[in-house]
Amino acid sequence: MLEVRSLSAAYGQVEALFDVSLTIRPGELVVLQGLNGAGKSTLLKAIMGLLPPTQGSVNWQGRPMTHWPPYERAQAGVGYVPEDRRLFTGLTVRENLMIVANGSTAKSSLDLAEVLTLFPALAGMLDRAAGQMSGGEQQMLALGRTLMTGPKLLLLDEPCEGIAPVLVEAMRDALLRLRTQGLPMLVAEQNQILASHADRLLTLVSGRLI
Ligand SMILES: Nc1ncnc2c1ncn2[C@@H]1O[C@H](COP(=O)(O)OP(=O)(O)OP(=O)(O)O)[C@@H](O)[C@H]1O
Ligand SMILES: [Mg+2]
Repeated sequence: MLEVRSLSAAYGQVEALFDVSLTIRPGELVVLQGLNGAGKSTLLKAIMGLLPPTQGSVNWQGRPMTHWPPYERAQAGVGYVPEDRRLFTGLTVRENLMIVANGSTAKSSLDLAEVLTLFPALAGMLDRAAGQMSGGEQQMLALGRTLMTGPKLLLLDEPCEGIAPVLVEAMRDALLRLRTQGLPMLVAEQNQILASHADRLLTLVSGRLI
């Protein structure tokens, strides 16, 4: 589904990603590991088009998307949940979910009920402002919001980081359930809870896949 070839990326003069190649096949759960600063977020941003590549290419379902803007990648089915979640903190949980559903043309998008089945904890707080939730609840909402757009692939940046252990388990269960439904995922995650379920583990060291 996704083919990354010899991708390099930099923040201005600071090179952060070197010659990375990887593929994600249908239904795969691929976990991306690496220490702080290894380049996990940089790789996901480069795949999403948020950071222009200095070299290399990204193919999506056989088509070159290296120079597409991020919104076109999202419309084509690449779902991205950034490290900082980017929720609309002043809107309610329900509004955060519905605002993207209204703009989505994807046939495969989950509806509200399906997101709430995946994350039952959100059901009791639909009318609460997103900014008034715990970190883990916000993480669930961020993933739920991306699912409402009908992604064909998920790029998740540390969904288990800094959240309570019970919510880490809920997140793992949700991701495994999505995998059984056939949704492929590339998940940057240092928490080992997902690693044992991965089809493949990739490790970044100083911007290089080893
Ligand atoms: N906006 C930026 N401007 C300049 N350098 C950056 C920027 N963001 C990240 N970097 C640098 O790029 C390198 C890779 O950072 P990145 O955020 O991709 O690491 P990471 O593996 O996601 O780390 P973490 O586990 O802490 O999230 C680091 O050396 C970092 O300092
Ligand atoms: Mg990161």
